[in-house]
Amino acid sequence: MTDSLTITRPDDWHLHFRDGEFLAQTVPATAAVFARAIVMPNLAPPVVNVEQAAQYRERILAQVPASTAFQPLMTLYLTEGTSPEDIAAAAESGIVFGCKLYPAGATTHSDSGVRDPARIRHLYEALERHDLPLLVHGEVTDSDIDIFDRERVFIDRYLAAIRRDFPALRIVFEHVTTREGVQFVQDSGERTAATVTPQHLMLNRNDLLVGGIRPHNYCLPVLKRAEHQRSIQQTVLEGHPRFFLGTDSAPHSRDAKETACGCAGCYSAPAALPLYAEFFEANGALEQLEGFASHYGADFYGLPRNRETVTLERQSWRIPETIDGGGTTIVPWQAGRELHWATR
Ligand code: DOR
Ligand code: ZN
Repeated sequence: MTDSLTITRPDDWHLHFRDGEFLAQTVPATAAVFARAIVMPNLAPPVVNVEQAAQYRERILAQVPASTAFQPLMTLYLTEGTSPEDIAAAAESGIVFGCKLYPAGATTHSDSGVRDPARIRHLYEALERHDLPLLVHGEVTDSDIDIFDRERVFIDRYLAAIRRDFPALRIVFEHVTTREGVQFVQDSGERTAATVTPQHLMLNRNDLLVGGIRPHNYCLPVLKRAEHQRSIQQTVLEGHPRFFLGTDSAPHSRDAKETACGCAGCYSAPAALPLYAEFFEANGALEQLEGFASHYGADFYGLPRNRETVTLERQSWRIPETIDGGGTTIVPWQAGRELHWATR
């Protein structure tokens, strides 16, 4: 049995740092392990232009511990008011690495998102021209579509056409949750990839609803049936190079999660790499961890792989029950769980 595993330092290709007080918690937690992270722009109000991204980046950098060389990779939030000029400026900025499509109303702080993703073709065209990745929250929001079907319907209604009409556009299908999503990415060639969260790899909807509602497992897109989970697991365990690590770590205060109408999001950053390591080891595929966590995402984004390494050691520890989020209490995802790998 391996007791120590040294891999290329990983990157997190999808996370939410939030802003203000949260940053003193979220940034060091990620920077302790990851070299880079794609930072989601769904602040309130959202990050919609290069100037706002640059200011947000400075607030993040102010919280990076001096002992790390962590780099935040910024993103813009696409709205109906975004122009092709905004996208050109983002591509030239050197600090923006993708633009996020939130269908309006799909998730936390998505009210400024796009009501009809079929009506921003000028933006897809600009992203394709400037080779800036389109990062997609792939869910329709129509009230008549069942929440468990929203990802599948988004593919049929919008994503398949975007893929067909903009063949050179790099698309990241964020936090894939369904067999149909996995299939779509597998079938769509070199310019389509997906991020995979620890919760969608390790859990299914029973973990949300059986024996009581578990608000800390509630995220969006919502956990699906076990057969969908198996499809995500299978492609990752096979080492498919277009499925890579994106935690979607998304803190909310304990009060906002444990309430009659709880927020979606799992704060996984403090234990993310050990959690993924547990998953790979439990499935006899620990050798696939490095590609998934440290190589495939950089390759897809056209960025160099990190040269530094990180070492995981076999060591038991427990995820804390609560974490201080700068004045608010956060319950981390899988609080209290015993893990068998630790990073140093
Ligand atoms: O669960 C989620 N939380 N899904 C998202 O898409 C957004 C995120 C958040 O910002 O809280
Ligand atoms: Zn997210």
